[in-house]
Formats: sequence, structure tokens, C-alpha cells
Amino acid sequence: MQRYLDYNATAPAIDESLTAFTEAARTASGNPSSLHWAGRAARKLLDDARDSLAEYLNIEPGSVVFTSGGTEANNMAIHGWLSKQEPGKIVVSAIEHPSVLQPLESWAAKPGWEVVSVRPDRNGVIDAETFCSHVDADTRLACLMLVNNETGTIQPVEEVVAHCRHSEVATLVDAVQALGKLPLDLSKLGADFVSFSAHKIGGPKGVGSLIIRRGHKLKPLLQGGGQERKRRSGTENVPGAVGFAAALGMLDFGNISAIRNGFEERLAKALPEVIFFSREAGRVGNTSMFSMPGLDGETLLMQLDLAGFAVASGSACSSGKRDASHVLLAMGVSDLQAQSTIRVSFGPEHTSEDRDALVGALVNIRERLKMMAGAS
Ligand SMILES: Cc1ncc(COP(=O)(O)O)c(C=O)c1O
Repeated sequence: MQRYLDYNATAPAIDESLTAFTEAARTASGNPSSLHWAGRAARKLLDDARDSLAEYLNIEPGSVVFTSGGTEANNMAIHGWLSKQEPGKIVVSAIEHPSVLQPLESWAAKPGWEVVSVRPDRNGVIDAETFCSHVDADTRLACLMLVNNETGTIQPVEEVVAHCRHSEVATLVDAVQALGKLPLDLSKLGADFVSFSAHKIGGPKGVGSLIIRRGHKLKPLLQGGGQERKRRSGTENVPGAVGFAAALGMLDFGNISAIRNGFEERLAKALPEVIFFSREAGRVGNTSMFSMPGLDGETLLMQLDLAGFAVASGSACSSGKRDASHVLLAMGVSDLQAQSTIRVSFGPEHTSEDRDALVGALVNIRERLKMMAGAS
């Protein structure tokens, strides 16, 4: 039996979104910029999708720019905004997604720019006061994600945005992992830029959005036909936007914390040596990250794969060498421990049966790997 437990990487496409996507691709095949009936039909679907997203987030439709996903949205906010600012400081959490950290690296290398990276506590949570203490009159942008993709921790975005607004410093909130898992009211939050991705909620891959506060001007990343009110050129992905809108609110992660918590309790009982990360922090309900000391995360992942479980490990393979998770390292976790880490991210369909099967599989795999290590 196959069990998909990697929702933070991507959520399987949901039927409602697939149907809406296919319908839009079939029925509105015109270019939304064309003035004729076929173009108007496509434009109407795009506008409706924009309205739905705006309504869901409690913002004006004019703030929504559809993008190719969360990565583009983050890049657009960072490069688009900073290109229009005088050189200065950028304050960022050390646990952001690479689509925030890497664009900022290129700004750190420019003359006159400084990037201040704020580390989380050992539970993976940024202290709002510490973060805000770095924000001053020279700060051009502050970046803090709402939910971390690896640990599931909820970050103190409300406090940070409120402080930054008071100091007239622009904020970028990566809310990719929060969508569908936390209630979101962007008017109340008041951030300047907020990024989203459709595929984390069962929508199509390759679609997302950047929400831009009214009045803010960004230098476009993509230039050309001037679509999306000159903010993002390129013929719009109408079926993608429609599929995104159709997925909103469809995946209900509301009750999943009971399964996740039960999983952690059972695993802790069966294997007391397991170390859970961020268990004491405020987390979204679907994510569990833990280390199995003495075992290699990648090997565990492959063994779980053979047993039918799709999970993630705490390290990424880049050019032949294994990089431990920058999030865990920032939390003060040792390189060795980070290398023995697994991330499980449950979805709404998971039951106590899945929970128990995973615990059983982990116990078996551990026994086997320990035996093999002993024999060699
Ligand atoms: C927190 C976070 N930000 C941004 C992204 C990038 O989104 P996309 O895959 O749509 O480019 C991801 C995806 O893993 C993410 O988890």
C-alpha cells in the first residue's frame, strides 16, 4: 500500500481543482489580452479567479498578481522592491525558504547593502523582539515566513509586521505553507508583500501569487506585454489561476493534529531515543520532524519508500554532497543529527491506521538497519 506523507513538499491535486483547470483549458482557450469574444471569455475566468483569491484573503482583487508559484512571488517582491530603494539593510529570518534566502544573497553582495540574518530559538521560532531590534530607519525590507516548511512552526509575523508598519519598513511574508492550514486575513495582517503557491493546497503546480499592498510599485522581473497591470508580463496561465481558486478552502487540515500528535506519542514510546523538533512550539497540525540518532536520514527515507511511505529527509543532496537542513542548523542542531532527520507531513485523508502503520514501519526499519550495522 502506498501512503503519501509529504504534503509540505506538495499536496496531491484535488478533483475540484483538476476539473476546474481542465474546464478552463478547454472552454477558455483565448488569450485574455485579446479583445474578441474568445479573449473576453478567458479574461472573465481570470478575473473570477482573482476575485475568489482576493475574497478568500480579504483583500482587493487589484492586489493579486498571479505568478508561476511561490518562488517567483518571493523573487518578485525582493528584486522588484529593492531595485527601487536606496541601498540599506534587509532583515531576514535564518529559516526562510531558499527562494527568499538566495535572492537576498545577491543583494548582500551589492555595494551599500547589508543582510542581517536572525536565528530562531532551539524550537525553531524567531523571537519577535530580537527580530524587530534589528529593524531601523536604514531597513528597506524585513522578511519573515508565516509557517516554516520543515518544522511547521508558526512565526510571530503579526508582531513583526505591526512593528515594521510603525517604523515604515516594508515586509515580505512567505505564507506558502500557511495557506489552508491557518486562518488568513491579509487586511488585518497589513504586510506589504505576501507570497502563495497553489500546489501546496491541492491546486496546480506552477501557479502562485504575490499580494502587493496598494500603491507599491515594483520593478517587474518579467518584461514584455505588460500583463497583470504591467507587474508581470507573459500571457496569463488562466487554467492555472482557475485551478488555484478552485482549490481554496478545499483541503481541511483542521483535525490532522490529533493524528500527528498521536504519531509522535506512539513513536516516542516505541523508540525513546527519537528526538522530535519544535514539539514545544506552536506548529501547524500536519508536520512532524524528528531525528533517529545513529541512522542516516536518506537511508531511512529510501527504506520508507520501499515500504510505500513517501516522506522527506532533513537534508538535500546537491552536487553529490549532502547538505544538512539550514533550518535545523540555525536551530543549533548538530550536522550529524540533522543528517538523521525525517519530515513527515500528513494530509487531511490520513487516519489512525496510517499513523500506526508509519510507527510500525519506522520500528521495523530501525531494527533492520541496526542489525545490518551490527553485522558489518
Ligand atoms: C515556505 C515556502 N516558500 C516558497 C516555496 C516555493 O513555492 P513554489 O514551489 O510554488 O515555487 C515553498 C515550496 O516548497 C515553500 O515551502
